[in-house]
Amino acid sequence: MKNILISGGAGFIGSNFIPYFLEKHQNYKLINLDLLTYAANLENLKEVKNHSRYKFIKGDICNREFVEFIFNEYNIEGVIHFAAESHVDNSITNPDIFMRTNVNGTFTLLDVAYKHWMQKPFTYKESFIGTDVLTSANGEVKVSLPRFHHISTDEVYGTLGETGLFKETTPYAPNSPYSASKAASDMIVRSYHETYGVNTVVTNCSNNYGAKQHDEKLIPTIIRNALKGDSIPIYGDGKNIRDWLYVLDHCRGVDLVYHKGKSGETYNIGGKNERTNLQIVDKICTILDEKMPRSSQHLKYKELITFVEDRVGHDRRYGIDASKIEKELSWRADEDFESGIVKTVEWYLNKYSGGFK
Ligand SMILES: NC(=O)c1ccc[n+]([C@@H]2O[C@H](COP(=O)([O-])OP(=O)(O)OC[C@H]3O[C@@H](n4cnc5c(N)ncnc54)[C@H](O)[C@@H]3O)[C@@H](O)[C@H]2O)c1
Repeated sequence: MKNILISGGAGFIGSNFIPYFLEKHQNYKLINLDLLTYAANLENLKEVKNHSRYKFIKGDICNREFVEFIFNEYNIEGVIHFAAESHVDNSITNPDIFMRTNVNGTFTLLDVAYKHWMQKPFTYKESFIGTDVLTSANGEVKVSLPRFHHISTDEVYGTLGETGLFKETTPYAPNSPYSASKAASDMIVRSYHETYGVNTVVTNCSNNYGAKQHDEKLIPTIIRNALKGDSIPIYGDGKNIRDWLYVLDHCRGVDLVYHKGKSGETYNIGGKNERTNLQIVDKICTILDEKMPRSSQHLKYKELITFVEDRVGHDRRYGIDASKIEKELSWRADEDFESGIVKTVEWYLNKYSGGFK
């Protein structure tokens, strides 16, 4: 049984990942370290709350002493690092917390992992840089180093014009404080592989959608506002494009990269589902018109759409080339947007059936 530290497991993606991973792999105990910021919701983990191979710990990835304590106490043998401040709009009004959590927090977690895994009881030898093999202090024992998997975003690549896709080799050009903080953390992870030989992998994924997402994000906002009869706000002309990835497809991708990805490599994960924000709203409104018609049959949900002032520095288009993870690790998105969005709307209809909090 190996203990894996999942950071930020009470957030949107983490709370989808933990039940999936517990079920899929019987040989891991998952230690979920989460600060429970406004973005967290432990309700989303109630299905695993009493699972024998799951433990929740409230704590801050920036708190070095506490992170060291957890590594020692639970002999952590792998990290999957989701914890972050993740909402671009918040990063524009309050960038400080993004630098603290995403940059310093990633550094702290990584540095503690490096020191825990590679400085005791094994001595670091320059010759193993780029591999995941160590030589022990008292012999030539080869061991596979524990892995540090950093979850990142396609936003680090900046914005695309009408054509082209982000590849793993696309130069970084982050435009928001959020994407800049994620880009910085990606670089720190890279440096710990190149300098110290830490067994790292990084995944850069596109916009996730699915169950358990915080109300502040686009898709839950559309559904909630529509159901409440409030206006549905769309930034600018609504033509910004994102490449949507069903969250459980993302979880499968993380699982594959964690287990089979090459040390020191990065992998893009995307669903090949480019849609404008307007297309997203249109689709959701159409599904709601069918599943939960408005009180008067003449009223359509689309009538609630309201265009609001654009986000500052709003990237125009993201699109992912996922051919590396597809070819090397045989990953494919199971869900296309048409099927994934129906499941998603159904989940939120169920969530809001008890009222709006
Ligand atoms: N959601 C997306 O569409 C998307 C796309 C690409 C990449 N990502 C990345 O995936 C990861 C997870 O995203 P998400 O949407 O689940 O985010 P989220 O905001 O829903 O959840 C983040 C979680 O991290 C926790 N957290 C925040 N600061 C912490 C700290 N200092 N110490 C410990 N825990 C802390 C929060 O309490 C929360 O539970 C992030 O790294 C994000 O950058 C997300």
